[in-house]
Amino acid sequence: MQIPADTVSLRDYEYRFHEKVDPAIRAYIAGAAADAVTQRENGAAFERIRLMPRALVDMSKASARSELFGETLEYPILIAPTAYHKLVHPDGELATVQGASLTRTWMTVSTQASVTLEDIANASTAPLWFQLYVQPRREHTLSLVRRAEQAGYKAIVVTIDAPVSGIRNAEQRAAFRLPGDVRAVNLAAFPSTGPVSASLGSPVFRGMLDHAPTWGDIAWLCHQTALPVLVKGLLNPADVKPALDAGVSGIVVSNHGGRTLDTVPATIDLLPAITSAVGGAVPILLDGGVRRGTDIVKAIAFGASAVLVGQPVLHALAVGGMPGVVHMLTLLQTELEVAMALLGRPTLQDIDASLLLRPGGV
Ligand code: FNR
Ligand code: LAC
Repeated sequence: MQIPADTVSLRDYEYRFHEKVDPAIRAYIAGAAADAVTQRENGAAFERIRLMPRALVDMSKASARSELFGETLEYPILIAPTAYHKLVHPDGELATVQGASLTRTWMTVSTQASVTLEDIANASTAPLWFQLYVQPRREHTLSLVRRAEQAGYKAIVVTIDAPVSGIRNAEQRAAFRLPGDVRAVNLAAFPSTGPVSASLGSPVFRGMLDHAPTWGDIAWLCHQTALPVLVKGLLNPADVKPALDAGVSGIVVSNHGGRTLDTVPATIDLLPAITSAVGGAVPILLDGGVRRGTDIVKAIAFGASAVLVGQPVLHALAVGGMPGVVHMLTLLQTELEVAMALLGRPTLQDIDASLLLRPGGV
């Protein structure tokens, strides 16, 4: 796979991806819910924030390194969990994790990966996190957690914003179907819950949601494992207390990249209130629309320890395979360093609200 020489930013990868990939697969990956209001807003909200640089700061000891859950994080950039990487590359998640390892990036592996979580771990030399979809039966949920522990995963990220799929009109219009050779192999041993019987009435309220997790399940999970458990998809500051009471070790502020409930706010707009509700009790991460080094700086300034990127990873994998993933992640790392240098903020600790232009000006 030849990466076109004019691919110099994450948006360039997105553009090339749209040129290259089959429309139905594209519709799944671009996959906004309903009218894509939230998906657009994730990006637009970052663009509205203005930065205030300081001049002539000593940058001779600059570094974007930090510590998270006792491990050194070279850059505050993780790979968000996304399903089915084999949709865009024959090696699927194996290519992604090799690219991640080469850039020392931590990858969060989806429950719905198209390669087994063990094979992904064997191909990785960087820390991995496992994204968990709580299964209808607790023994199945637990078996995924045990497999992740045994394979050496460093954290469990439980997704809490998708008890049902969003209204994916773009996917429906494009008649997206998973190709036969792309499957959620980590779930292969579990019986499918089967179609919801029409006689039950509403398939949503009296079907799938029978099995949807609640805060009690998160508390149960936190007791089952010594690994840090993070919740992903928390948006409302009112949910911070139940999350902390349940015993979570971290929070990922996420709206699933705009794929679940449309018209919820951009994640970056909610981050300050969530940071304030968390009060430093646990680390906060953010995803949704991160496409530039300056976006990362803004998230850190509002209280995030790190960000995750979702769609850009699939764009890069589709366009450039494993080297594409390396290139895309390196672009983002470089952009972050350039932003820190030009803002006069030598370390992540120096990135705080003082670099944001306050509403109304200086
Ligand atoms: C996702 N996301 C997701 N999240 C999750 O918890 N489990 C999953 O299996 C998936 N699958 C998935 C597939 C695809 C194709 C996409 C694009 C996204 C959501 C993902 O983790 C993340 O929240 C968003 O992608 C972040 O937004 P950006 O970076 O894509 O704008
Ligand atoms: C998605 C599911 C897999 O967003 O989380 O497509």
